[in-house]
Amino acid sequence: MEKILKSISFHFAPFCVLKAAMDAGITDFLLDSFIPFDELSLRAKLDAEGVKRVLEVLYQMGLLDRKENSFKLKEELKKFFEVQSPFYIGHYLEHLKNLNNRWENLAQALKGKRKPLKKPKDMALLAKALFPINWSSALELENKLNFRVKRALDVGCGSCVWSIPFALKGARVFALDLPEVIENAAFPIVKSFALSGNYSFIKGDLFQVEWGKGYELIIWGNICHIFPAEKIELMMQKAFKALNSKGKLVIVDFVKDSKALFPYLFDINMYLATRKGKTYSPAEIQHLAKKAGLEFRNAIPLDEERNHSALVLEKP
Ligand SMILES: C[S@@+](CC[C@H](N)C(=O)[O-])C[C@H]1O[C@@H](n2cnc3c(N)ncnc32)[C@H](O)[C@@H]1O
Repeated sequence: MEKILKSISFHFAPFCVLKAAMDAGITDFLLDSFIPFDELSLRAKLDAEGVKRVLEVLYQMGLLDRKENSFKLKEELKKFFEVQSPFYIGHYLEHLKNLNNRWENLAQALKGKRKPLKKPKDMALLAKALFPINWSSALELENKLNFRVKRALDVGCGSCVWSIPFALKGARVFALDLPEVIENAAFPIVKSFALSGNYSFIKGDLFQVEWGKGYELIIWGNICHIFPAEKIELMMQKAFKALNSKGKLVIVDFVKDSKALFPYLFDINMYLATRKGKTYSPAEIQHLAKKAGLEFRNAIPLDEERNHSALVLEKP
């Protein structure tokens, strides 16, 4: 018990410090040169004692360089704090704040008194939020899949984080999502990588719109958990039709297989957010794939702590 209490105590604190540092504008002063904490406090009109403690925590978290009482963001981390960058983490922290509100409703939901589900307000914010947290895994996936892709489809593309590494290697990508996500997340982020010429966008509901044909690769990045099994079955049928023979469907998601706690927590997240969404075990995905005529090839672990994996299925 002691171990569990210690592991959950102050779990929220690093998030609060980082969010406060960004919201109060502290990180803006740390972007370009070393600044003493008292000068920063004066210029930002903030309480010097609090600012000093926040800077000490950011330093201990490995975010800052330090010269005595002066601090600066590490050069390689600047892109995460610049609001125009696709790597900006402010959207992710905002998303985490929204999640806290959602999770406070868990006991009420268990008592059958859940608040009515709201339509997700800002899917584009979520899409942008997920870019910096998935980018290294996306590069790793392209590298480990290791096959030349001429034509790919990214379904529920969000920021296009999972397909950009393939586009950087020359693939033509068709990216499908809701119109507001394409316009506010996919389009600007693809443009910031100078890849607009490689992309065509399909705007609409993935169950309604045509997916096209002739793909060597279809990517489902973090979308299975939104839907119940019967919807995934429909999506698998669409994927089967759209793939070339020997084409691959790559499903990236948190995989529930007793190895890690996180996919079970995320299962509750989807219970709160969608009612019928859930996380899946590899066996459940394989069962659905088999029904649609797709064969399981392999799993590529991307983040073992969270059991975030890519399951590779192939059309025979
Ligand atoms: C969790 S986000 C994942 C985004 C991106 N693939 C990633 O991993 O960062 C889920 C995405 O699926 C999209 N989505 C959900 N339901 C959809 C639907 N019925 N039709 C099209 N897109 C949908 C959302 O707009 C959102 O961009």
